[in-house]
Amino acid sequence: GKVAVMFGGTSAEREVSLKSGAAVLKALQNQGIDAHAFDPKEQDLTQLKALGFERVFIVLHGRGGEDGTMQGALQLAGFPYTGSGVLGSALSMDKIRCKFLFSAHGLPTAPFVVAVKGEAIDHDAVITQLNGKVMVKPANEGSSIGMSVATNGDELKAALELAFQYDAAVLVEQWIQGREFTVSMLDGQALPVIEMRTPRAFYDYEAKYQSNSTEYLCPAPLSAEQTLLLQQAAVAAFKAVDAKVWGRVDAMMDEAGNFYLLEVNTVPGMTEKSLVPMAAKAAGYSFEQLVRKVLEQS
Ligand code: DAL
Ligand code: MG
Repeated sequence: GKVAVMFGGTSAEREVSLKSGAAVLKALQNQGIDAHAFDPKEQDLTQLKALGFERVFIVLHGRGGEDGTMQGALQLAGFPYTGSGVLGSALSMDKIRCKFLFSAHGLPTAPFVVAVKGEAIDHDAVITQLNGKVMVKPANEGSSIGMSVATNGDELKAALELAFQYDAAVLVEQWIQGREFTVSMLDGQALPVIEMRTPRAFYDYEAKYQSNSTEYLCPAPLSAEQTLLLQQAAVAAFKAVDAKVWGRVDAMMDEAGNFYLLEVNTVPGMTEKSLVPMAAKAAGYSFEQLVRKVLEQS
C-alpha cells in the first residue's frame, strides 16, 4: 500500500529530519515502494486518509514526531507506523526518565541533577556534587541542541539559561572524560558499535552534521568482551524504555574503561553522516535494506 514518509515537522531538529526523510524516501522509491513525502508542518494529518496512505514511515526527529504524540495520533487514526510505540517514544525522548529507568534496571549511567525552570538551584553546589564538570542538556531535545559544558557556577548558570530556551526540564550530568560510542539497533538487536571522535569539546551539532573532522570507527576498536558488554547494555536499555524495532543507544566510556549509557533515540538520524546506516552497512545491510527492514515491521 501507499506509504507516507513523514519528515520535516516543527521541532528544533527539523533541518536534520528534512535530510533524513529525503534519504529514506528515495531509498523506498528506489525499491519500487509507493512512498511519498508528508510534512506535518505543512500538511494536516487528516489528509493521510484522503490521500490514500495506508501506513507511515516516521522520520521526524524531536518533539511532535519522536516523542509519542505522533505515534498516538496515528494509532488512534488506525495507521500502522514504523518504530517504537507511544510509551517507548515518550520515555526515550525524555533524557531524565531514560536515566531513571537505566538506574532501575541496574544499567550504568552518569550521576546527575535535574534543574527545573523557575526553581532555585545552587550552581556552585551542583558543580561540586558532580565532580567539577558537567554536561547540560535540555531533557527533550536531540542532535545536541541547547547543550553545553560547565566547569563552575557561572558557566552552569549560563548553560542552564541556554538549555531552558528549549525545555523547562534540564539534565545536568556529570562529565565523563573518555570515549564516545553508539550502538545502533535493528530488529531489537545490536548492530556493530561505532566510536565517534571529534577534536571539538564534545560531539555537538557541528561535529554531527557539518564538520569534516569527526572520525567514525566502525566496528569500534574495543575488545570483543567490551563490545559484547556494551551491546548487551544497549539492548537492555532499549528494552527498559520499551523502545521497539530500530533506534540507537548512545554511551560513553571513562578512562578506567567503565561504560555509561546516555540515552535512547527512537528515530535516529538517517542523513549521509548518520550512524545507524553506517552500523547497518558494517553488518551487511545497504541503506535500502535497512529502511525496508524498518518498514516491514510497522
Ligand atoms: N536526534 C538525532 C537525529 C539522532 O539521534 O540521530
Ligand atoms: Mg538524542
